[in-house]
Amino acid sequence: MSSPLRRPLLAGNWKMNLTLAQSVDLARAVKDAAASASGEVAVCVPFTAIAAVAEVLRGSPVKLGAQDLYWEASGAYTGEISAGMLTDAGCQMAILGHSERRKLFSESDEWVNKKLGAALKAGLTPIVCIGETLEERETQKTWRVLETQIAGGLKGFAPADLSKLVVAYEPVWAIGTGKTATPAQAQEAHLFVRAQLAKLHGEGFASSVRVLYGGSVTAENVDSLMAQADVDGALVGGASLKKDAFLRIMGFRELKAA
Ligand code: PGA
Repeated sequence: MSSPLRRPLLAGNWKMNLTLAQSVDLARAVKDAAASASGEVAVCVPFTAIAAVAEVLRGSPVKLGAQDLYWEASGAYTGEISAGMLTDAGCQMAILGHSERRKLFSESDEWVNKKLGAALKAGLTPIVCIGETLEERETQKTWRVLETQIAGGLKGFAPADLSKLVVAYEPVWAIGTGKTATPAQAQEAHLFVRAQLAKLHGEGFASSVRVLYGGSVTAENVDSLMAQADVDGALVGGASLKKDAFLRIMGFRELKAA
């Protein structure tokens, strides 16, 4: 279990899925189960579902997130959505730099850094995603990749700016593959991430940042992942679309390490 300084966060990433009616239905189920959740709960939904899900979640502790944003405030940026538009529509969070965006849409650390600035300025809680590919892991580049992504993504911000920061460690080889990192692999990487955060802004800062694990989190493996000292929550893709599975993840059970 993570430090009492860091409240666990269970966040669903719905990706490009669900109709409006399905979104509303799933959001209702999450809202109804929120009171018995083991931590803070969030759903990160497609742009088109934000307004409808915000309506469902009104007055509930469940946070609403987007899956991306563009750093400019407004203007001629066809197809893009600004941080201010997200808060206006009811979002409190945003996923930034997800590996699917990095890979399929060529997002760089520099872009993630600009998006982070816009998110913080708008008062959104950013979930900055990092993680190595299988090839990088197999060629011993994991630590270098994580170090570069953290340094590049967080560049130029003071610790006070980053008080809401959430980092999600998502090994690319574990995303949507059913191949979860072992609890020991997750803990090892999370410890490394925290050391990088300490290198940037000191131990106090590092121990206050929530580091989520993502990559094939399921109802079956969530308890053993959450039992790791530096795993402060989960970013959940596939299993967040299944009501029963996500509700079980929200209510993960603490397996206290000896
Ligand atoms: P997954 O996705 O749980 O389906 O592996 C996680 C993510 O991409 O955030």
